[in-house]
Amino acid sequence: MKLARPIVIALSVSLFLAACAAVQQQKAQAARADTGEFHNLQLFPQNITHDELIGNMRGFARALGTRCDHCHAANPPGSKEQFDFASDAKPEKNVARAMLRMVHAANNDYLAKVNPHGQMVTCNTCHRGHTVPDTNAPAESAPPPPPS
Ligand code: HEC
Ligand code: HEC
Repeated sequence: MKLARPIVIALSVSLFLAACAAVQQQKAQAARADTGEFHNLQLFPQNITHDELIGNMRGFARALGTRCDHCHAANPPGSKEQFDFASDAKPEKNVARAMLRMVHAANNDYLAKVNPHGQMVTCNTCHRGHTVPDTNAPAESAPPPPPS
């Protein structure tokens, strides 16, 4: 599989935003075709393609400066697959779901109404390569203006 490129991530993030709106709608549908690939999607649409989902996942990992194992539980040694991706055993996975809801609300309830620059919040807006965002203000780049 090819590595996600920035364009893929950007696409995936906007896809996710659109997907959020579809979640409730999808949940309301009684029966739907199950591709059978993913088993525990609570926020992404059930019919998301493999590449779209993995593109989002790589975006998460990059934004947080982690690998998949930060949120996904490992299978016992010797298993065919290294990870049990559907498992919710790692609390970080559910934190990530809460973050997804937060990002969705920030974009839809607030930014969509006031974003003349066309920007939306992504995981990277806050995380920038850290699991816990760095909340220190940037260092002063220039001395403060002299008193008048
Ligand atoms: C920051 C946490 C986080 C990281 C890092 C992460 N994931 Fe995920 N992953 C999630 C969440 C949250 C879900 C469930 C999304 C939902 O409920 O719709 C998920 C779901 C999945 C699923 C679907 C499992 C199923 O059957 O329901 C796969 C596959 C997956 N991730 C693969 C990966 C891969 C591969 C990586 C590394 C490139 C990765 N993830 C990195 C949080 C993460
Ligand atoms: C508005 C800023 C903001 C955005 C946007 C944001 N986060 Fe966070 N995130 C935080 C803060 C702050 C914390 C630390 C909370 C704490 O004090 O424990 C955090 C914590 C986390 C953690 C737990 C970190 C750990 O200790 O392992 C995960 C996982 C996470 N975020 C995933 C995401 C994902 C995935 C996205 C994008 C869908 C996202 N975040 C978007 C602010 C943000």
